[in-house]
Amino acid sequence: MNANLGNALGVGAALPQVITGQTLKHFRVEGLLGEGGMGLVYRGYDTRLHRPVAVKLLSSELTSDPERKQRLLQEARAAARISHPAIAQIFYADEDGGVTFVVMELVEGKTVRALIQNRELDLLGALDVALQVAEGLAKAHEQGIVHRDIKPANVMLTPDSHVKILDFGLAKLLDASGAQGPAGTERLDPTRIAQTRSSVVMGTPAYMSPEQVRGVPVDGRADIFSLGVLLFEMATGQSPFRRENFMDSLHAVAFDETPPMNSLRAHVPEELQRIVSRCLRKRPEDRYPNARLLAADLRRLRRDTEAGMVRQTSWRQHLMDTWEQLRHRPPSRYVWYVAGAVVVGVGLYFSVGRNGIAGLLVVATWAFLLYRRIRNRPQRLREQFVQRVSKIPEVRMITFQGRQATVIVDRPVPQLYGRINGYLSTSNRKLYFGEPMTVAILHEVSAEQTNKLLSGPGVHFVRDDAITTRVP
Ligand SMILES: Nc1ncnc2c1ncn2[C@@H]1O[C@H](COP(=O)(O)OP(=O)(O)OP(=O)(O)O)[C@@H](O)[C@H]1O
Ligand SMILES: [Mg+2]
Repeated sequence: MNANLGNALGVGAALPQVITGQTLKHFRVEGLLGEGGMGLVYRGYDTRLHRPVAVKLLSSELTSDPERKQRLLQEARAAARISHPAIAQIFYADEDGGVTFVVMELVEGKTVRALIQNRELDLLGALDVALQVAEGLAKAHEQGIVHRDIKPANVMLTPDSHVKILDFGLAKLLDASGAQGPAGTERLDPTRIAQTRSSVVMGTPAYMSPEQVRGVPVDGRADIFSLGVLLFEMATGQSPFRRENFMDSLHAVAFDETPPMNSLRAHVPEELQRIVSRCLRKRPEDRYPNARLLAADLRRLRRDTEAGMVRQTSWRQHLMDTWEQLRHRPPSRYVWYVAGAVVVGVGLYFSVGRNGIAGLLVVATWAFLLYRRIRNRPQRLREQFVQRVSKIPEVRMITFQGRQATVIVDRPVPQLYGRINGYLSTSNRKLYFGEPMTVAILHEVSAEQTNKLLSGPGVHFVRDDAITTRVP
């Protein structure tokens, strides 16, 4: 390493300050990507393999103790053995000129933290992220490696909707006490984490499992808890155990009941609530015993959601949801509802009371018109749904069989599923009676299937290029 780099990195200070264009071993350090509790993350370039990478420069506070530094490097090397599409691969871990660094796969995309903040995740997107994280965790746990710091900043989503879990195994480094539990388990000392982080970036314990908070040995079920917190936050926009300050959050993780997701967001499927509750049990033995079983439940729920067949929520939940929606309507909307009801009531009273049969006829005509309007509503809502969905550029075709819609899309992007399901639930919400509409979203459709759909009676939309490009 260049002799100036040590200074430029601020070795000896808690956070290495960097420089671009300098090298650590054979990695060139480029622009800053972000800063976290353990140090700084830079975009870098592997000058031997000629490929972009991410370089994490660890705070000297974490690496000043030689024994701890060795453990840190060991951990990174152990994590480098995991190979899974949902895990950002660790390529290299070493030190150069007093700077300890970890080189990993450079992930292009956004962190789940950013997606939550910008409200870019819908229910299906959240399920898709959680499923991919669960699959990655299952693979790592089977190799005996626990993440210990699953949280929105450590999960990224690439532009083609692939999840990448960052920092596998690195959280062990925050175990400043070095305490070891029984074989295969680790102890984390939360007070030490608070101390370590207070001088760097104050982390939040809101994603830790109760056993981590208590400083008892942890295994893969700690990650399952953290994934439950992540899924809760992705689906509702709020973290269940985040409190005003560090100690209150610790307390909430250890002792507070998980709030029902329906109290934070309407239309949360019961099955999702069940899955999250099982992840968030305080005792590890009450949670999913492994991430594979969790992934299986998530996969089933995602499939049902995609097909628009999620079990209907109970009438009590419907009432609560409706009440919630009404409560959040602006008062100006109430005025129109109330005024409308009063006008109809007064009209009825006077026409029947004063004009006898003639009045009754007027009321009957009105009622008939109103009935026709309501009766035609499902059809109008279906047209409205088609109109909206057909505006999405990736949509190739829309057909209806009764209340079942089939939408064929170019690519299986979660955001797309979310948008289409969003339009569907908006339409269903406006339905006064009858069964709600459902939608199946397909992307890999054979020419034969396409032809069959096209020759059926329910075709509502076909994109201009859809037939020429897909049907021979
Ligand atoms: N491999 C990577 N590829 C692309 N960007 C990354 C990569 N690793 C980290 N980042 C970016 O750098 C930011 C900081 O990462 P870092 O891991 O240092 O902090 P953190 O996850 O917020 O906290 P912690 O230190 O507890 O993990 C991330 O939020 C992300 O935006
Ligand atoms: Mg991180």
